[in-house]
Amino acid sequence: MRPYEIIHRKRDGRPIPPEAIAELVTRYAQGEVPDYQMAAFCMAVFFRGMSEPELQALTSAMLHSGDVLDLSDIPGPKIDKHSTGGVGDKTSLALAPLVAACGVKVPMVSGRGLGHTGGTLDKLESIPGFDVRLPVARFREIVASVGACLVGQTDRIAPADRKLYALRDLTATVESIPLIASSILSKKLAEGIDGLVLDVKVGSGAFMKRLPDALALARTLVRLGRGMGKDVAALVTDMDQPLGRAVGNSLEVKEILELLRGQGPADLRELTVQLGAEMLQLGGVAATVPEARARIEQAILDGRGFRKLVEIVEAQGGDARVLHDPDRLPRAARVVEVAATAGGVVEAIDAEAVGLAAMALGAGRSRIEDAVDPAAGLEVRKKVGDRVERGESIASMHLGERPLEPPEAVAARLRAAWRIGAGPASPGPLVLQRIEEVET
Ligand code: URA
Repeated sequence: MRPYEIIHRKRDGRPIPPEAIAELVTRYAQGEVPDYQMAAFCMAVFFRGMSEPELQALTSAMLHSGDVLDLSDIPGPKIDKHSTGGVGDKTSLALAPLVAACGVKVPMVSGRGLGHTGGTLDKLESIPGFDVRLPVARFREIVASVGACLVGQTDRIAPADRKLYALRDLTATVESIPLIASSILSKKLAEGIDGLVLDVKVGSGAFMKRLPDALALARTLVRLGRGMGKDVAALVTDMDQPLGRAVGNSLEVKEILELLRGQGPADLRELTVQLGAEMLQLGGVAATVPEARARIEQAILDGRGFRKLVEIVEAQGGDARVLHDPDRLPRAARVVEVAATAGGVVEAIDAEAVGLAAMALGAGRSRIEDAVDPAAGLEVRKKVGDRVERGESIASMHLGERPLEPPEAVAARLRAAWRIGAGPASPGPLVLQRIEEVET
């Protein structure tokens, strides 16, 4: 079927044979279908959506446009986790070692931060020497021997998605649930995993600001992943304020080290335990949620998670001394407090604004080719529900060497991000919904 006919059918809401979608994507990846036709197709999908067979064909064609790892010769279940992105969202750094310590392999291909959201690779690279660009053979070796390995996406993983995502970015077609779901899963399924736990964020710091949209995305991801033969579960979780307190690369690593030593913020710990429990259940090493939770909690308490992180860091060329002595991590030369201009109760925090403030301090990037400053970022001092006095610090800014904005401007952004009122206020639930079964 010619691209024109496919676009025409989608525009009119008529079904398209799955093979025609597969051919369209394959030819687009090979440069045989022009951007303008693919853009028109994406816009038609934006308005019309996709049927299940169409979506599977799209995802499968994107997945097979590049290399698909086969880890079946490595014994044991292989489970990964993916978050749709948030602020202070650092659970992957703890989950990989904790879940590996409990007997489930974690082959993790992660991304970099962009805009207000952080990325696992940038966080890991604040550990001196840590190499996220390993050859596939070494990645396999580390997954097999250590149990977890965290690397970046290569040009050979789902190249059709790379091209399509860039096109969507320029044509206002990013916010389409089928296009997001196929984009995420085409990359994740290329890792050779048996199962995937999705953390679909919702709230002011998330891609999805409204619960119905997040639920629709989570359900689509679960249905699509299962339709493609993988065990997939999703948690829809709160991103209406930063997760934990640290926002910024080395600060977040430090907070994970606290967590793995049995300390750290309660919300970060709770979400890590819940996501870890989902991963253990998908991996088949725990039968029930309470059992799975207990195993993750035990791996925190007895230090196995911490020791596994040391093993991962050593295997990937990092300086593991920083894990024992976090003061060796990159540190900002100056820390400046942001004082509240009024007293009261923190009623809300605009998490996206906090993420953008961290970016302005040098912790993030506005374009994918920008460099990040590992030491830059901020610590949230007052979270939703906390009392604050006038003049008390609501956040500490760790000033990077090349900030995008002067500290006074960032402080003003931060003050505007905190809504302080008469209260009472309390944070909403951390996990809003768990999605495992989806009717087809
Ligand atoms: N993340 C992705 O990987 N793809 C999308 O389309 C949106 C978010």
